[in-house]
Amino acid sequence: MSEFSTIILAAGKGTRMNSPLPKVLHPVAGWPMIRRVIEGAKQAGSKENRVVLGFGEQLVRPVVEGLGGVCFRQQNQWGTADAVRAAQPESLEGLVVILNGDHPLIEAADIQGFVESFLKGSAALAVVSCELKKPAHYGRIVRHKDRVQAIVEAKDASHETLKIREVNTGLYVVRAELLNELLPQIQSHNAQNEFYLTDLVSLAVQKGLEVEAIKARPEVAFGVNSQSELAKATQKVFRRKAEALMAEGVILIDPSQTYIEDQVEVGSGSVIYPGAFILGQSRIGRFCVLEPNVFVQSTEIADSVRVKAGSYLEDSKVGESSQLGPYAHLRPQSELGKQTKIGNFVELKKTKMGDRSQASHLAYLGDSEIGEDTNIGCGVITCNYAVDKKKYKTKIGRGVFVGSDSQFIAPVEIGDGAVIGSGSTITKDVPAGALAVARGRQRNIEDYKSRPSGASTSAEKKKGD
Ligand code: UD1
Ligand code: MG
Repeated sequence: MSEFSTIILAAGKGTRMNSPLPKVLHPVAGWPMIRRVIEGAKQAGSKENRVVLGFGEQLVRPVVEGLGGVCFRQQNQWGTADAVRAAQPESLEGLVVILNGDHPLIEAADIQGFVESFLKGSAALAVVSCELKKPAHYGRIVRHKDRVQAIVEAKDASHETLKIREVNTGLYVVRAELLNELLPQIQSHNAQNEFYLTDLVSLAVQKGLEVEAIKARPEVAFGVNSQSELAKATQKVFRRKAEALMAEGVILIDPSQTYIEDQVEVGSGSVIYPGAFILGQSRIGRFCVLEPNVFVQSTEIADSVRVKAGSYLEDSKVGESSQLGPYAHLRPQSELGKQTKIGNFVELKKTKMGDRSQASHLAYLGDSEIGEDTNIGCGVITCNYAVDKKKYKTKIGRGVFVGSDSQFIAPVEIGDGAVIGSGSTITKDVPAGALAVARGRQRNIEDYKSRPSGASTSAEKKKGD
């Protein structure tokens, strides 16, 4: 595969997006559009990616540079040829692939295909084309006896030309030498008074050179110009991922309502119900079940885990054969061992829980370490946040039984095998094997109902009741 560089056009304002965000930063299935194009080019093997910025440059630049792209500024949006000029192609050598920053459905294999096809052919310039049922505003590929002659923009086209269904996708392959020879010859005598890059075609033909049109998938031609098109692109990317996972043996109840980002891995035999969002660097093992409406962000889930409906998991790890939810919340840096159970309305933050431990109902466990085989009762709270606005740790050993409705005023440490009586407010460490009870003693007042209503005896008043 021969070396090539790319010039990615991304200076346009994207007026029809009606959004304060520069168009190419709008996300398509979790990635800004421009990232999809740059990653595609990188994966295809480009040696350098030059990105032309204009509108919202200060916002787009850090994203592009973060991906290793080189930014160039186009002062005024005077058209696609002017944009390519802004990328200083005179300092490029070899093959140049020109791409659009707002075509997020392009993939590495498409770009590789264009380069290969250009190299196999004898043309001096290749334009990537596509047959569309509704060619709408796209530039039309005009042929004479099958040979490409020109690209005519819809706004400049005659009634006859508008009937052509082969359109320009806005992507090109050309040698830097020819590009640099033709670019200065492009004029702005057209309906939009812009410098059209499409004029490369007629200029090459006038020089007696052959121009090839490489046919591409309709997805390659798909440019995002409105929120509606953005949503379509997002759906397509999610669908593509869903199809890839199904091909690998993942069971999706309704792929059209499953939102799994590109980098997520899911093991075969796992079942994912509708409404699941699985994002970032998440990894789901085999034979897992993710029930409806679970949200999983950058979380590792081992094999045979069941995540029940409505659970929310972020930056955490879940060990094999564990169960969570419904409505469980793992906040960042939580780690569950094997066969753990986190029940409904239980929230964990920066908490490690050992194998076979459980917190089955209504609990908050923050900044804590919990050993193996420990039971956390209903309504237990680790009071990790103190009046000095600092966070403190709770350590609970192995085989501990924490009775319901207990609180741990951190920092505090509970030894292995200890028992905490229900309703205790634990402020001091508890040694291994001890029973700790920290609550008001129960006192029964006999025959209370038969007294005059609400009255207490003078003896009770003296006691301070
Ligand atoms: C362009 C093509 C058209 C093709 C279509 C495919 C021209 C003249 N027309 O039209 O034949 O069918 O793409 O989508 O090239 N840009 C800049 N600076 C500018 C102008 C544009 O960076 O001064 C960028 C835009 O941000 C965008 C790309 O170039 O990423 C295409 O520009 P756009 O205005 O969308 O061109 P179209 O009119 O769609
Ligand atoms: Mg466009």
